[in-house]
Amino acid sequence: MVNATPALPRVFVTRRLPEPAMSRLYEAPLVLDLWPEAEPPPYDNLRRRVAGCQGLLCLLTDRIDEGVLDAAGPALRVVSQMAVGVDNIDLAACTRRGIPVGHTPGVLTEATADLAVALMLATARRLVEAANDVKAGRWRTWDPMGWVGPDLHGSTVGIVGLGRIGAAVARRLRGFAVRLLYHNPRPSPFADEVGATWVPWETLLAASDFLTLHCPYSPATHHLINAAALAQMKPTAILINTARGGVVDQEALLQALRAGQIAAAGLDVTTPEPLPPDHPLLSLPNVVVLPHIGSASLSARRRMAEMAVDNLLAGLAGERLPHCANPEVYEKK
Ligand code: GLV
Repeated sequence: MVNATPALPRVFVTRRLPEPAMSRLYEAPLVLDLWPEAEPPPYDNLRRRVAGCQGLLCLLTDRIDEGVLDAAGPALRVVSQMAVGVDNIDLAACTRRGIPVGHTPGVLTEATADLAVALMLATARRLVEAANDVKAGRWRTWDPMGWVGPDLHGSTVGIVGLGRIGAAVARRLRGFAVRLLYHNPRPSPFADEVGATWVPWETLLAASDFLTLHCPYSPATHHLINAAALAQMKPTAILINTARGGVVDQEALLQALRAGQIAAAGLDVTTPEPLPPDHPLLSLPNVVVLPHIGSASLSARRRMAEMAVDNLLAGLAGERLPHCANPEVYEKK
C-alpha cells in the first residue's frame, strides 16, 4: 500500500530557544533537530546537520554562507534568524536561491535602547570601575574628586543611525535634556518626533559628547569609526556601541583610548565575540565591555524567539514571512 501522508519537513535549530517558542517547535508538524550545546555548532557540524533540511532556525553566532546553503541543498525553503541584524547571513545568496530570510525587528528596540543609555551612564559615571573598587577594598573615604565623570544631563549626544533603535534612545534622552544630533545617509523619518537635528558626519564627530552607534553593519559601515573618525572626536567624548563590533576599527579605538584621544567607550559588541580575556581593551579602566546583551530582557528574548518560530512556520508552509529581511526574494517568484 502507498503511504499518501506527506513527509514532515525537517528543521535544524541551532540553539535551545526560550519558552513558549521551544514548545511550539516541539508541537509543530515537523521533524526537529535541535543543537543541544550551549555554544554554537561549529561550521562543519552546521553544514552536516542542515543537509536535506527544509528549514533552518539560526542565531547571529552562525555564519550562513554559500557553503551552508550548498550543504543544505535545494530542499531548503526558509532561513529564520532570532535577531534583527542579519549580517552573519549571505542575504544575496539566499535571494538568488529563492530562500526568504526571517528576522525579528521591533521587539528588541526598547531593550536595546535601554542598554545604550545604561552604557552611557556606566561609562560617564564610572559605575563598573567604582563598584570594582568597592569590592576590592579600595574605597577608603568619601572623596571630593573620587570617581568623578561627565554629566549625561545637558550634554550633546550624536546618534549614528536614527532608525527604530536610535529613535528609542533619543526618546529616553529627552528626559536628560540633551542636545540631539544625528547622521544618516538620508534624513530620518523619526527626526522631528524625537527632536534630533541632522548634521554632516564631521560635525557629528566633532560636536558629540556621547556618540552612540545604531546603524546596521554592512560593507558601507565596516570600520565607520576608524582612526580618522576618532581623531575628529573630542578628548572628552564617550563612544557607545550596541550595533555590531565591525562598525568600529577596534585597533584604532584601542590606540585612541590609550592616547587620550577620546575619554571612554561602552561596548556591547566587539570583534570577535567574545573577546579573549587577555585582550588589551579589557584592561582599560575607562572601557566597559558587555557580552552582547542589548536584547537580553526577558520579554524581548521571548518575543524574538516567538517571531523566529512564526517566520519559520510561515516559510515551511510556503507563505510570505511576516518579517522578511530580503523581501526582494518575492519579486523573483
Ligand atoms: C542583536 O544584536 C540582534 O541583531 O538582534
